[in-house]
Amino acid sequence: MALISRSLLFLFSLNIIFTQSTSTNGVFSKQSNIYLPSEKLTHLHFYYHDIKNKNNPTIVQIVNTPENVPNGFGATYVMDDEITEGPEMSSKHIGRAQGLFGQASLHDIGMFMLTNFIFTEGNYAGSTLSMLGRNPVAEQNREMAIVGGTGLFRFARGYVIANSVYSISSPENFVMEYNITVYHHL
Ligand SMILES: *[C@@H]1O[C@H](CO)[C@@H](O)[C@H](O)[C@H]1NC(C)=O
Repeated sequence: MALISRSLLFLFSLNIIFTQSTSTNGVFSKQSNIYLPSEKLTHLHFYYHDIKNKNNPTIVQIVNTPENVPNGFGATYVMDDEITEGPEMSSKHIGRAQGLFGQASLHDIGMFMLTNFIFTEGNYAGSTLSMLGRNPVAEQNREMAIVGGTGLFRFARGYVIANSVYSISSPENFVMEYNITVYHHL
């Protein structure tokens, strides 16, 4: 019952968007399916690679941590990592994971993550998902939030489960596994 009334509420708010947009934009009907209320649940499963070699790193530390702060607090990085379908770098490249993250926890190891997943291959080519969350990197099954998206992922919301894949990682290529569960409308 709660679900049904939420959908109705959503339909109602879409109606408002539709009405406002038609009055200001004559080509709106071409795009009206943007506001289709039907919701889809999609699972995505992929890997990305932190490359830390000297010549072509995909992850760079931009803020150093001062001495005598605990747990590397403050260390901050930027990344632009290759996303692959399978765990090996040689598997199909399907996008990039770009973002900012840093050690934001004084009492343990916990990174804040701001990550945009940019898909360039397959069904979701041209669409992006945005993630925001706390990443306790030493733990298994770290959960973070998907807070939005673009393209086919407009209105996206959901969560990720992230794991480090130690079995195939090396100091130069650290492999992360992401499982994303996301609601979206297209
Ligand atoms: C991630 O997804 C894969 C493929 O669907 C599945 O085999 C695996 O168990 C999932 N892992 C987690 C931690 O959810």
